[in-house]
Amino acid sequence: MKRIAGKNLVLIGFMGTGKTEVGRLLADALNRKMVDTDRLITQREGMPVREIFSSRGEAFFRSVEKQVVAELAGLRSLVISTGGGVVLDRENVVRLRESGFVVWLDADLDALRRRLQDDVTRPLLQGGVELDTLYRARLADYQAAADVRVDTSDKSPLAVVEEVLQLLQ
Ligand code: S3P
Repeated sequence: MKRIAGKNLVLIGFMGTGKTEVGRLLADALNRKMVDTDRLITQREGMPVREIFSSRGEAFFRSVEKQVVAELAGLRSLVISTGGGVVLDRENVVRLRESGFVVWLDADLDALRRRLQDDVTRPLLQGGVELDTLYRARLADYQAAADVRVDTSDKSPLAVVEEVLQLLQ
């Protein structure tokens, strides 16, 4: 695992690409601690992400997210799974890239639609913005932030983990 020796392994990507589950499995495989930015934000604020969005607004969520990213980027040898919007902030991207190896979990729009169709936990998908529009608007940000891309469409989380482990050799 030369590419991550002493560094963090950072998972980025759109909602529904499996960052949390793949992150957990990768952490097990690598014998590392796994941290999830949404989970930390939820713990810190004492409420789920959708409630933070509805009661405090997206800008507040993004400020806590930025604080959490800055803290985690100062630590080493973690597996960090991030929220899908983390790449929207340039400083987040710089910090995450400095702290580790960045893997972009991607999926095609059909797979994303399938995985997210009944989701009620993601505030950005609850009203207004179309999934396709949001995905396309973010593509360049994921691309610019990533060291490597892994397509997760039609793959099990374990198959994705195997692929990531290969890339880390
Ligand atoms: C968001 C993705 C979510 C969560 C919040 C905002 C986004 O995380 O951080 O709802 O802007 O794409 P997941 O990617 O884990 O769903």
